[in-house]
Amino acid sequence: LARGVAEPDLKGRHVVVSAGGTREPLDPVRFLGNRSSGKQGYALARTAAARGARVTLVAANTGLPDPAGVDVVRIGTAVQLRDAVLKAAQDADAVVMAAAVADFRPATYAAGKIKKQDGQDPDPIVLVRNPDILAEISADRARPGQVIVGFAAETDDVLANGRKKLERKGCDLLVVNEVGESKTFGSEENEAVVLGADGSETPVPHGPKEALAETVWDLVARRLR
Ligand code: CTP
Ligand code: CA
Repeated sequence: LARGVAEPDLKGRHVVVSAGGTREPLDPVRFLGNRSSGKQGYALARTAAARGARVTLVAANTGLPDPAGVDVVRIGTAVQLRDAVLKAAQDADAVVMAAAVADFRPATYAAGKIKKQDGQDPDPIVLVRNPDILAEISADRARPGQVIVGFAAETDDVLANGRKKLERKGCDLLVVNEVGESKTFGSEENEAVVLGADGSETPVPHGPKEALAETVWDLVARRLR
């Protein structure tokens, strides 16, 4: 829904949005990361602020300028993202997890830079699971009626995978988009389907990330009433 002047339908609400991609350090100069730009999360933060919400944006390695009128909390890793989201979610009416959270992190962190050893193969990198923040906040809601939204980038059978993921996570809405090499990551545009735990399916045609953000807030606002 394109709006000239936004309707302040989120006035008096506190919403939390996570954006960007976590980085899991191996040593002081290296990390495991992903290609999330943070643009969709920032679009969500901007549009929520325009609709009157108090917005906390938990930003993971985005390098984007702080949106006006938004509280920005900058973090790096998945564990830091969890701490920041759990804290901000305490008094939140809605939480939208647009961040790409690393599923795994290196089991150990080398305090000094890892060096090559003459004629030796490198040690394998051992990974451990990161906490699933979306599943955790959905299972243990900070407030009754808090609306929780996840994002999923899928390939292959996108909708079936999305339905399964929505159920597994226990959130209210899951924004599912199809990804490929050139699709979505870093792009200005997005195309998605928003799946609801109530069985609803809201297609969002290819368009700017703001348009998808507005649709997400429409669906959230409806559930908050
Ligand atoms: N997410 C999260 N914590 C994680 C992993 C993901 O909160 N450790 C959130 C993401 O922010 C997103 C949603 O869960 O909103 C779906 O992420 P996705 O990577 O698609 O889900 P996974 O359960 O990690 O499934 P997959 O094995 O397909 O990566
Ligand atoms: Ca994942």
